[in-house]
Amino acid sequence: MRIVLGVSGGVAAYKAVLLLRLLREQGHRVRVVPTASALRFVGAPTWEALSGEPATDQVFEDVEHVPHVALGQGADLVVVAPATADLLARAASGRADDLLTSTLLTARCPVVMAPAMHTEMWEHAATQANVATLRARGVHVIEPASGRLTGADTGPGRLPEPEEIARVALAVAQDSGDAGGVPGVAAPRRDLAGRRVVVSAGGTREPIDPVRFIGNRSSGRQGVELARSARARGAHVTLVAANLAPDVAALVRDAGLEDVVAVETTAQLREAVRAAATSADVVVMAAAVADFRPAHAPGAKIKKVPGRGPEPITLVENPDVLAELAHDRLRADQVVVGFAAETGDADGSVLDHGRAKARRKGADLLVVNAVGEGRGFGVDANDVTVVDGSGELVATAGGTKREVADAVWDVVARVAADRADAGAVPAE
Ligand SMILES: Cc1cc2nc3c(=O)[nH]c(=O)nc-3n(C[C@H](O)[C@H](O)[C@H](O)COP(=O)(O)O)c2cc1C
Repeated sequence: MRIVLGVSGGVAAYKAVLLLRLLREQGHRVRVVPTASALRFVGAPTWEALSGEPATDQVFEDVEHVPHVALGQGADLVVVAPATADLLARAASGRADDLLTSTLLTARCPVVMAPAMHTEMWEHAATQANVATLRARGVHVIEPASGRLTGADTGPGRLPEPEEIARVALAVAQDSGDAGGVPGVAAPRRDLAGRRVVVSAGGTREPIDPVRFIGNRSSGRQGVELARSARARGAHVTLVAANLAPDVAALVRDAGLEDVVAVETTAQLREAVRAAATSADVVVMAAAVADFRPAHAPGAKIKKVPGRGPEPITLVENPDVLAELAHDRLRADQVVVGFAAETGDADGSVLDHGRAKARRKGADLLVVNAVGEGRGFGVDANDVTVVDGSGELVATAGGTKREVADAVWDVVARVAADRADAGAVPAE
């Protein structure tokens, strides 16, 4: 892949040297385009020696090749790291006063920016407005990390580690289908092109009172990876997101998913999923949905009264969102996929429970995963077994949650295609 690495003038420019090495080691051609300020932090010889290409901020050099236009036009990916407050402002207002901002105006490939600055600069309304403008134009702005800044102070504004920037940037390029021919980066399949899918992710919260709730440990990562994978394969994705963990919510923003509905309770999730499902080819219920909720949630906080123990909380059953979707089939030929987080017990193994659940729920496919003891919730690795509606084993998959998501879509896309073929009226 042909990558332009833009570097603007912050202390974290030294980390871009490591990012450059990483990208080069993965076989990419990288042209570094520093700003004048960046060159005061790290000089051109470092960029040129490590990239094997010239590094200048000037538009009036090498003019016969028109670099202020050619670099952006020829790039498969532009990564700006670090992106200063000043660079974000110039990019958002469409300035073209150096080689990097000119390149940003001519690039038609994915653009990823990793801001780094002091917390006050990052949180300033002007910077936040610039970031919002850039995101609205399709730029993938990575949330800065929190931690030690240039001096002794700490807070949000730190440049994420080079490995993380490389991972996000290459994933963005891959998701957009522009990574063809890159060593080590498979071109995404487009087997969901034109399909509408709904994915629920996260865990619902059932209020006990205005400040307390009954929740669960789901971070939402597996559901979000399913949504990102579906989008990369060409689907229009509605993500119904219930209380995502902060790093997973950042992943959603970086992925540029357009249709995200935030919900909190099972009732809200049910309503959002059913509304989107009326026009969906596939519904994947990956969210951990509470089976029960407190029967009454008073409008005021429950007080602790000295000497009197707590009132018992009476629970009532929530609607079974997956079983309802499987029963109602809100659209003809819809494929309904459930997730079951199980633990084995004296009554049977994880798979035994998953198979019984598949038969009970009536979904087309059930993805069964074992949770607890470092698996499933909150970690990036998952092992799953996919069974059909009668409990028959269809596939197994393991690896990162993205790899599991890809493997699940391999199965679901096949079922959806078979169903569409079966429903098609043959031409005369
Ligand atoms: C020591 C030092 C560190 C700086 N660090 C940052 C930084 O991390 N982020 C930032 O937005 N600006 C930082 N600045 C300010 C920028 O260098 C300044 O706004 C400059 O105009 C940015 O130019 P550029 O965006 O064209 O690279 C720093 C300045 C100095 C002197």
